[in-house]
Amino acid sequence: MEEIRYRDNRLYCEETFLEDVARQFGTPLYVYSKSSLLDHCRHIERTFDDIEHLSCYAVKANGNREILRLLANEGIGADAGSIGELVLSIEAGFLPEKITFSGVGKGDDEIEFALRNNIHSFNVESEEEINVISEIAERTWTMANILLRVNLDIQTPTHRYTSTGHKHSKFGIERDRALEIAKRISAFPGIKLIGIHSHIGSQITDAETFRNAANEVVAFIQELRSYGIDIKDLNFGGGFGVQYHDFVSHPLLPNDGIQTDSGVTTVNLLKSILPVLKESNCRILIQPGRSIVAHAGVLLTKVLYIKESGGKKFIIVDAGMNDLIRPSLYQAYHQIAPLTLYQSTHELVDVVGPLCETGDFFAQDRTLPAVHRGDFLALLCAGAYGFALSSNYNGRQRPAEIMVDGSECSIIRNRETVQQG
Ligand SMILES: Cc1ncc(COP(=O)(O)O)c(C=O)c1O
Repeated sequence: MEEIRYRDNRLYCEETFLEDVARQFGTPLYVYSKSSLLDHCRHIERTFDDIEHLSCYAVKANGNREILRLLANEGIGADAGSIGELVLSIEAGFLPEKITFSGVGKGDDEIEFALRNNIHSFNVESEEEINVISEIAERTWTMANILLRVNLDIQTPTHRYTSTGHKHSKFGIERDRALEIAKRISAFPGIKLIGIHSHIGSQITDAETFRNAANEVVAFIQELRSYGIDIKDLNFGGGFGVQYHDFVSHPLLPNDGIQTDSGVTTVNLLKSILPVLKESNCRILIQPGRSIVAHAGVLLTKVLYIKESGGKKFIIVDAGMNDLIRPSLYQAYHQIAPLTLYQSTHELVDVVGPLCETGDFFAQDRTLPAVHRGDFLALLCAGAYGFALSSNYNGRQRPAEIMVDGSECSIIRNRETVQQG
């Protein structure tokens, strides 16, 4: 399932030596393993076994058309967060009846587009939004299936920017309010309430947190049913954390030493909550993003300069925060691995990009094998929220994206030109 591995001293993606790819297509460069992508998707699907369910890939994690096409071919659904993601999903081949629409600020045009395309459901976030959806549905002679996204005030051990289930977050509808809305749902003529939705955050590696949330959601569904409200779908969202530390190992690589996400797998997280979710007797929906794509992708970069200053050693690379913003935005960790390992000496370094921002870094005070100008490095587990969050900041061009299938490479997005960027 994990296809980014050292063979002797060289880092491979499937049967392809990554340094050859970097030299052929240039850097910075996103490279994905097709086999890893499909394996992660299939492992999640198999976890459900005989449970009636629908997995909707969260397009925001990586909306590359080829990645979407491959996942649509697996027969799963998609969760879109905008009209752009709705269009991408439909064009990639996801069946509209397997597409969900999430987001706290859906525009009128986006709602109308979703209704006209008969998507599966809207995960709604406020009473005002329900009103608007109902009006647009009436006007367009359609009917909107909705799930109430409920905020059950769950604290999550993740970065505060990726924590969405606590009561001070903008997401979801408070439990009491959601109950009141559900009781009055017939007041909204264009709306059919079919379920409850919950998404408590992203990169959560703690099974206990998920179990608590699952218990709360199931209890809420049972409360709704006690008022005669029919709930068919339980959408538990995404957020299943993945291992970022020590993703690859080699005798010449230092251990990361931080074990917070060691051994975490989506399958194990799901196995620990499915028995709870099953108690709801609902069809179970999930919206995994990161757990399908993160491990399938790497960002390749080249060392431009080595510089010592203020008692520190800086490795200046040609990728920047505009290519991969997670370290700057979330203080997120990405393991950094040379594409060819030839040095047994380790150094304490900062790995930084070329942008005019002090926050433009990939690692600070990190022990890495010594590198030199012209060496290539991989930022690992960069398949999710990597390219998707990239930008043209500082007049830079977004990188190309490559799909590896065994020993074959294909360009799945061209590098932007200066004219486009
Ligand atoms: C509503 C919703 N569902 C699913 C996801 C996917 O989360 P993840 O990539 O952590 O699985 C997100 C991400 O923010 C989200 O907002």
